[in-house]
Amino acid sequence: VRSTSPETMIIVSGPLTMPGQRTVDDLEIIYEELLHIKALSHLSTTVKRELAGVLIFESHAKAGTVLFNQGEEGTSWYIILKGSVNVVIYGKGVVCTLHEGDDFGKLALVNDAPRAASIVLREDNCHFLRVDKEDFNRIHRDVEANTVRLKEHEEDVLVLERSNNRSSSSSPLKYTVMSGTPEKILEHLLETVKLDSQFTEPDPALDDFLLMHCVFVPNSQLCPLLVAQYPSQLYWLKQVAVDLCISSRSRTYHAEASQGSEQERMDYTLNNKRRVIRLVLQWAAINTDHLQEEDSSYNFLQEFYETVCEDSRLIPTLKDQLPELEKIIKQNSEDGRPSQKKHKVLLRQFSTGNDRLQKRQPIKSTDEMITPTPLSECLSLSVREVISAVTDKLGSGDDLLLIHLNSAGDKELLKPSDVSIFSSLSINGRLFVCSRDQIDTLTPLPEQEGPSAGSMSTFELMSSKDLAHHMTLYDWELFDCVHEHELIYHTFGRRHFKKTTANLDLFLRRFNEVQLWVVTEVCLCPTLSKRVQLLKKFIKIAAHCKEFKNLNSFFAIIMGLGNPAVCRLSQTWEKLPSKFKKFYGEFENLMDPSRNHRAYRLTMAKLEPPIIPFMPLLIKDMTFTHEGNKTFTDRLFNFEKMRMIANTVRIMRYCRSQPFNQEAPQVTGKSHQDVRGYVRHIGVIDNQRTLSQLSHRIEPRRS
Ligand code: CMP
Repeated sequence: VRSTSPETMIIVSGPLTMPGQRTVDDLEIIYEELLHIKALSHLSTTVKRELAGVLIFESHAKAGTVLFNQGEEGTSWYIILKGSVNVVIYGKGVVCTLHEGDDFGKLALVNDAPRAASIVLREDNCHFLRVDKEDFNRIHRDVEANTVRLKEHEEDVLVLERSNNRSSSSSPLKYTVMSGTPEKILEHLLETVKLDSQFTEPDPALDDFLLMHCVFVPNSQLCPLLVAQYPSQLYWLKQVAVDLCISSRSRTYHAEASQGSEQERMDYTLNNKRRVIRLVLQWAAINTDHLQEEDSSYNFLQEFYETVCEDSRLIPTLKDQLPELEKIIKQNSEDGRPSQKKHKVLLRQFSTGNDRLQKRQPIKSTDEMITPTPLSECLSLSVREVISAVTDKLGSGDDLLLIHLNSAGDKELLKPSDVSIFSSLSINGRLFVCSRDQIDTLTPLPEQEGPSAGSMSTFELMSSKDLAHHMTLYDWELFDCVHEHELIYHTFGRRHFKKTTANLDLFLRRFNEVQLWVVTEVCLCPTLSKRVQLLKKFIKIAAHCKEFKNLNSFFAIIMGLGNPAVCRLSQTWEKLPSKFKKFYGEFENLMDPSRNHRAYRLTMAKLEPPIIPFMPLLIKDMTFTHEGNKTFTDRLFNFEKMRMIANTVRIMRYCRSQPFNQEAPQVTGKSHQDVRGYVRHIGVIDNQRTLSQLSHRIEPRRS
């Protein structure tokens, strides 16, 4: 055995050769030995042969020796040949023990991150095989197992999987989080935050976490975790060294074996602080509207800002990140705190015909709701709470129920835990509060039936392009108000979050409204030639919507034309000029659901933002992912599922990444104001049976 340092010896158990000097025979003997090592059992013969050329034997005599410290740069990967080590994390102590055949130290190498834990010898005379970073990187494509599992106290806490999407064979391999406990996922993501990248490009893994954390760690739990991750003092590592001494059950703490200098440790602490600040900034950017709704989150932000301010007096480099934090605090306080700022949302806003001239404001969970009865309620209130408020107002002693009554007279008893009920009514649906014995007496109000005459005489005078333009402006307003989190609340069931999905509901409602508008107008048009004109008009509007990249209304119109009450009107369709039939055929093909809506997805892929996507499909994709994948497996949170859902949310982000500021078309006929007013006040019949009866009346079934 030849020793190169007091603790380290380079050997193979047979010949005493340095890696570069091994003969073919040496390599053969080493290779034979590697066949018996558990940690290498998954590797191919070729890789074992490669490793035989580069492995270094290293042994340490004393328990308590620190092989490396958390926070240091990773230089090697280790396999335990004999003995055992403790994995120690600051603030947690010993999280697990590794034994003969186990390996450690690859996370820092593959993620190009600091060491996630310190490694301390648990017994005297431990032997290791070591592969240094350069060799590891050269062969690690195959050396590495596809899955890496980290344990703490015998339980899995993080599962990583090798991602294959490398841009080239020379770019580093990445491991992505598949599942984990919320704390460990956060800890891991913080370790891998790249501080050199610009804040303007959010780290994708962090972005997944910040978009989706509401599902598994709500802000009320995340804020304390972030506080815990922000090192409270610069010299905390010293304290940790003491912990380490106690928890590793070692007799001595061999500080000399740890290579980290004081400067390195300070840098590590400082970088940890900067990583947490980066994460908080990204968190605040995603949560903008919600921060105002949650006192605890706002208070956290305020306190965090004060801590960083204080730190930056001692550590000037922290000053770089202060202006960004300050800006976010200002934005939130200028906008007003929740208690001072509830904007009253009139019930009328829930009819999509809101014609207020000012910019539409997103609806927030804390907004007050003014219903026609003098009842003002929070939008996020559950049915149970609404009923209780009504009971108070009416002074009724009866047990009241909340009923959704649609225009066909169907009644739906709302569940006590339902939320966002006002925005998710059917188009002509109304809410009724009554006692159980009054339910049978409920009948739809005359206004719920919808119009009895079409409005063609009004909108035939408006240019199709102008109509499509104003429809798109309105859709954009609604779409732009939808918060990214609303998609997640909607997918996972909004009642779990007690947050409003009102903006998303209104946007989805508009889709139905446009669809029904087409059916209503056609079915209320008794004259055949006029009906043909109507079909032409709708096809033209759809074509213009498509030009404006408003795929939501485009699909709504085409689906309206495909409604059974419209598509059965064979006399009308027969008279449609072939040019229009051809357009309609092409548009219908775009809606072909085969091969997972391939035609639509290909069209979407070619468009540049701003785009208004076909929202129901986006929602369907997310629901499909949600229903097809478990959220938890044992105690571990399925992060892979979150990533898939976050990718769909990012489609919406991409669509809105450019503002919609299309020039209004030249006005012909009706003025812009008229067109604008018209598209926002569409009256429809939402009862399919009524529509079908009307359809049969204008074109009776041919005998
Ligand atoms: P690395 O970050 O390079 O250095 C510390 C090593 O400890 C780490 O790679 C893992 O290989 C190993 N390890 C084992 N269990 C854990 C754990 N629960 N958390 C972090 N690291 C762990």
